[in-house]
Amino acid sequence: MVGILVGGKGRGSNMRALISAGLPVTIVVGPHADAPALAVAAELGVPTAVLDSRSPDFGPLLVNLLRGHGVQVLCLAGFLRLLPSSVLTAWPGRVLNIHPALLPAFGGKGMYGMHVHEAVRASGVTETGCTVHLVTAQYDEGDILAQLRCPVLPSDTAEDIAARVLSLEHELYPRVVRGLL
Ligand code: GRF
Repeated sequence: MVGILVGGKGRGSNMRALISAGLPVTIVVGPHADAPALAVAAELGVPTAVLDSRSPDFGPLLVNLLRGHGVQVLCLAGFLRLLPSSVLTAWPGRVLNIHPALLPAFGGKGMYGMHVHEAVRASGVTETGCTVHLVTAQYDEGDILAQLRCPVLPSDTAEDIAARVLSLEHELYPRVVRGLL
């Protein structure tokens, strides 16, 4: 069974892709009740919960909540903070993230959202893509589980790149999670 941790502002499109792929998502957790992704999860009939990731008890509360929902694999989807070690040790090798570039390039603190695609465009690389990786106590540094690639065209805006990469994310993330389950 799968748990998903979303951010406060994310669209929730990767979460939707995981649920729509038929994966057994038993709980989606967001930082506040107004998180757009929680509304999408509720629409899709998946239970949701609110836990403030800045709370000092966030780690143990999240572990208890996820255990109560039988979670075997935890997927981050637009969650931008580092996870407490209590969560990482509770699911060793089973906490995953998706990053919108070919790690280890264009990763690390501050490399999220359009910052990534703007940096890709400015760098002049001819290829980008997405990466599913294990989550560690550092940003974007865990083992790489899978990647998908796409071209960067000379005429591309950062928005063009973002759209191309996002459709790859929706293909890759469910595939990797299904394989782990
Ligand atoms: C995605 O680009 C993902 O790679 C990154 O955060 C974004 C979340 O988008 N980790 P969404 O909320 O899933 O649409």
